[in-house]
Amino acid sequence: MDNSDSRFLRFRVAPRMPKFGAWVEGVDLARDLPPDVQRELRVAWLHYGVLFFRGQSKLTPQQHVALSHVFGAGPYEGNPQFERHKENPQVELLVSDAERVSNSDQWHTDLSYNNPAPLGTIIQIQEKPPVGGNTAWACMRKAYEWLSPPMRACLDELVAVHAHVNHRRLSWANLVEPTVLIDILRNDPPVKHPVVMRHPITGTGGLYVNELFTRDICDMHPVESAALLAMLHRWSRLPEFQLHHEWQQNDIAVWDNYRTQHYALYDYFPAYRVNQRVTTRMFEDFAQLKGDMNAIG
Ligand SMILES: [Fe+2]
Repeated sequence: MDNSDSRFLRFRVAPRMPKFGAWVEGVDLARDLPPDVQRELRVAWLHYGVLFFRGQSKLTPQQHVALSHVFGAGPYEGNPQFERHKENPQVELLVSDAERVSNSDQWHTDLSYNNPAPLGTIIQIQEKPPVGGNTAWACMRKAYEWLSPPMRACLDELVAVHAHVNHRRLSWANLVEPTVLIDILRNDPPVKHPVVMRHPITGTGGLYVNELFTRDICDMHPVESAALLAMLHRWSRLPEFQLHHEWQQNDIAVWDNYRTQHYALYDYFPAYRVNQRVTTRMFEDFAQLKGDMNAIG
């Protein structure tokens, strides 16, 4: 049975879960995309939170940056510690092997220790480990909507502190030069975000706390804060909220950081893996995009 989403006319959108995650077929992301295709891609992305594209060619840095103007207002410049592509410093390379360990094997939202945090992430796996290395995403809108009404009402009022270096990451001190750690502490002071993110484009609520970067809930005793965060992290890991992706070479995933968390399974050490990544800035003007969402339904 064909489970295509019939609202999309310019390519095939096949949901991977109810209202979360979708395959997109019939789009070559290395090409210049016509405006109507771009428009439908943005709407599909906001509907499903994370899109997957298979059978793509290896993106050049320029092609990758061009996509950041489809799924946002261009490259986000708030993450200086990542390795850069030598042809274009707007493009990041996430490399892991026997010497360079991955630290993405915890649930997180990209760069939530910044404010504003990036809207989108566009990743292509360009060197795939022989086996393993899947990535999981969790729908934080669903995680919020499935909470009881009293809990949602409580969380709606709360604000949390996010920090690049926090108690969970102090083990980093063993992995990086102390000067790198000091630079991170200096350049990335803690920021605050609402515990429930009202998505600026869709207006829907979603939990916006994550295990890697959320440090405390404001105005709470540390015992209360730790207990509430532990409950929310446990809740957010319910399998019903999760989608797991097994990568094939050159697969591209595009996700909405204001609606999702992800976890990159680190079961492939010491194999070589390279992800090419661009994160994107929030759209400056999204009135048209809201109209497109209403028009497509
Ligand atoms: Fe990430």
